[in-house]
Amino acid sequence: MIEVKNIDNYIKKIAESIANEIKLKQENDQNLVLGLATGSTPIPLYDELVRLHEQENLSFYNVFTFNLDEYCGLDKSDPNSYQYFMDEKLFNRIDIPKENTHVPNGQVKSGIEVEYCKDYEQKINDLGGIDIQILGIGRSGHIGFNEPGSSVNSITRKVELHEITRKDASRDFNGIENVPTHAITMGMQTILSAKRIFFMAFGEAKREITKLAFTKEVTDNVPASHLQNHKQLTICTDFII
Ligand code: GLP
Repeated sequence: MIEVKNIDNYIKKIAESIANEIKLKQENDQNLVLGLATGSTPIPLYDELVRLHEQENLSFYNVFTFNLDEYCGLDKSDPNSYQYFMDEKLFNRIDIPKENTHVPNGQVKSGIEVEYCKDYEQKINDLGGIDIQILGIGRSGHIGFNEPGSSVNSITRKVELHEITRKDASRDFNGIENVPTHAITMGMQTILSAKRIFFMAFGEAKREITKLAFTKEVTDNVPASHLQNHKQLTICTDFII
């Protein structure tokens, strides 16, 4: 666990760990698989990775990425889609081969969603699983879009969004009525299988749910609480839990 309480320090340390792993894999002719998150929390981390690329020659040629989730129904070109977010914040700013990046397709046709999600899962497994997972938390206690009640054994699938989650997203969408009702998310099992996890929660609004997740019982009602059982978890918060 990183024993610092300053957001900039956390960001620097996480980016450094990722950079070191990327370089280590490059020396051994191997790939690094990153699990990525969206939301405002990881933005400074993506900025720092871009800085390492631009100013310190960090190359992402051997990196594969898998994003946690995507809203159903949004086109890739929609500024509220997570694909758009990732392109803007990271992928377009570094030298990662575009074909190595994966964000669930929120427009997958109904009827083939299960197959599509299984394939997403398979792609991760074929690459040896996620080496480093970046995680935030939603006020419902979700990780990815695994809302309360998500089973610890769940894999990538289509889910219904919690009311709190839709409320929190309503500003971006100009009203709750415009927020999608469903999303595709990596499952709890998918996330918890990552070899190393960096969990980030910054700001007062995240304090209560983070406390619940890490200081109380492990329960499907607070999906993030299952992180307590992960062996290589680093919790980064700017408040005391
Ligand atoms: C969304 C994402 C989560 C993210 C959460 C928190 O719900 N699906 O993966 O952790 O937002 O967002 P923010 O970092 O903006 O608080």
